[in-house]
Amino acid sequence: MSRDRVFVSRQLPPAALDRLAQHCDLEVWQDFLPPDYAVLREKTESAQGLLSLLTDRIDAPLLDAASQLKVVSNMAVGYDNIDVAAASQRGIPVGNTPEVLNETTADFAFALLMSVARRIPEGKKYISDGKWRTWHPTVLAGQDIYGATLGIIGLGRIGRAVAQRARGFDMRLLVNTLEPESEVQALGAEKVSLEALLQASDFVSLHVPLTAATHHLIGKRELALMKPTAILINTARGSVVEPAALAAALREKSILAAGLDVTEPEPIPLDDPLLQLDNCLVVPHIASASVATRAKMAEMAVDNVIAGLRGERLPTCVNPEIY
Ligand code: DGY
Repeated sequence: MSRDRVFVSRQLPPAALDRLAQHCDLEVWQDFLPPDYAVLREKTESAQGLLSLLTDRIDAPLLDAASQLKVVSNMAVGYDNIDVAAASQRGIPVGNTPEVLNETTADFAFALLMSVARRIPEGKKYISDGKWRTWHPTVLAGQDIYGATLGIIGLGRIGRAVAQRARGFDMRLLVNTLEPESEVQALGAEKVSLEALLQASDFVSLHVPLTAATHHLIGKRELALMKPTAILINTARGSVVEPAALAAALREKSILAAGLDVTEPEPIPLDDPLLQLDNCLVVPHIASASVATRAKMAEMAVDNVIAGLRGERLPTCVNPEIY
């Protein structure tokens, strides 16, 4: 019997690829940059499995062309790059990699929050610009984190992990979520409307998936509700925030600062207004990027491919309705 063929859209940690290779014939995309859409489509046409990343657009035409496809396994918890409804219509299971990145991503959200609040990147630049000539009472004075109010938008697994960290800083926690009040109270937090959260928070941290409902959730109106001393942290998806509105709010100092792990678009163009602002720290979508967590994500993605090839239920499936 011929072996299944799987296209893997980027080099993964070797241990995961070696394990996958025991189950199927692999073609692994070797370039640092992702295959473009036409190439991805061509590579998937004759494949039974696709191991994708969040940079790969997987839509209905691609799925139609891939008539033998048994599984799509995305190495990410987010799957807004995939038309899941189209996959479901065609009976194709889609896997993701939840849970293993919760703590790593929450650590990073907090790292961004602390870096921006205490102006750490500005401090580094201050020295390299040759400006450090003495200790001064007002130089690079930032915002306190301990005892401040943190607003968490979206109380999924990562939002909860951020809330746990905030308790160690004795922060008041406000949460905007569809989860029941009892779940929020169990975290020592208050469930509030989006407007109330934006008005009262010193820090606002975004933890919603990107959907039609959360696209540009934070725009001009929402930014205008925030305190002039507030800091916005985004480790969710860039398109949850309207970038032009954020750049204007930061430029006009209607909010104090922002820390962004994710942008719209990605990668952010070098002439993007957000990159010109000292009060905006932008990093390249690395919140889950610890060596251990990326290895675990790759292993989970491989587990999903193997199960899909065997016709078994994926261990972490985002469209279980197909079963
Ligand atoms: C995800 O998994 O969706 C993150 O954005 C990258 O780890």
